[in-house]
Amino acid sequence: MSPANSADRAAIDHGDAVPPGGVGRSAPQPSGTEDERSPHPGTSPAIHAVGLTKRFGETVAVNALSLTVNRAEVFGFLGPNGAGKTTVVKLLLGLARPSGGEALVLGAPLGDRETRRRIGYLPELFRFQALLTAREVLRLHCKLLALPRSIWAAQERSSLQTIGLFERGDDRVGTFSKGMQQRLGLGVALLGDPALVVLDEPTSALDPVGRHDVREIIRGLRDRGSTVFLNTHLLEEAEHVCDRVAVVDKGRTIATGTLDELRGRHGSVRLRVTGLTDGWWHGLDRFGRPRRDGDWIVLEGVDRSRIPDLVGETVALGGRVEAVIPEQQSLEARFLELLGER
Ligand SMILES: Nc1ncnc2c1ncn2[C@@H]1O[C@H](COP(=O)(O)OP(=O)(O)OP(=O)(O)O)[C@@H](O)[C@H]1O
Ligand SMILES: [Mg+2]
Repeated sequence: MSPANSADRAAIDHGDAVPPGGVGRSAPQPSGTEDERSPHPGTSPAIHAVGLTKRFGETVAVNALSLTVNRAEVFGFLGPNGAGKTTVVKLLLGLARPSGGEALVLGAPLGDRETRRRIGYLPELFRFQALLTAREVLRLHCKLLALPRSIWAAQERSSLQTIGLFERGDDRVGTFSKGMQQRLGLGVALLGDPALVVLDEPTSALDPVGRHDVREIIRGLRDRGSTVFLNTHLLEEAEHVCDRVAVVDKGRTIATGTLDELRGRHGSVRLRVTGLTDGWWHGLDRFGRPRRDGDWIVLEGVDRSRIPDLVGETVALGGRVEAVIPEQQSLEARFLELLGER
């Protein structure tokens, strides 16, 4: 499958996905989306899903998932392999039909063809035709997007420059490394200045420089008012660019918020303590998960508001507390904790 704006992808993505009315581009729907009908276009959330569910036979890939993504934010959709991230994206883009629930994307119901023109999409697995040059791929997608011919050249140039492939524009895709192909996929998703850009694991094939570049592109999209929905299992990626994230597991959202909110009040605390007997941890494990680190005791997952009680308890156990250093929990630790709580 090749990346393109999602209306095109409906024609080529997986089997059960074809929306009513067939595939490919159609004439704009006269009814208009909520955005167009609204006296304040663009004020609806970028994505608003309620109870979204997708079953594949016995498998519940998406389980009554509710989610709101604001305009002009970078929203990270985090979850382990098989959590349902790609399936949610396919539902939101109208490439698969939900078994239950509903959602509005850019103010329009799922599958609205005109709205899909305003969504750029980089799928997680795709292949371009090897014989086409990068420019030809971009031009083809300009055509599929029904962009006016007069702006194709400018769109093509700006896309190639943004993804750092300007010098390679006339080379065939078959001669590109997989990272370069992924960049080109991103370039296609940027065509037509989409209001919403959906990126499914956009940096999986990229080297550190490429990852950095993609983060810059994502920030640039937000700065010009686009919303970015970023599927990733790379926490580092989320930490660098996301305004808010949802953690998804087994098709359910298990936490949503800013990264600070997600890390929450929990963190590790390092205590430099002398005088505690071997059984010290019996009394402290109700505050977090304790371990020894030389003269230090480290407790993971401590609620910050309980640090004074922790110190009091340590003293009561006979410890002499020489230093207390609260440390913010890493997103990874919190992520594992959230998944472990399930
Ligand atoms: N077309 C399909 N038919 C049957 N089961 C499917 C189909 N698509 C997805 N699933 C199942 O739905 C669940 C969620 O898959 P999905 O691809 O959405 O996960 P993901 O979070 O994107 O994972 P990854 O990080 O590996 O990309 C998995 O159990 C998967 O096997
Ligand atoms: Mg996936």
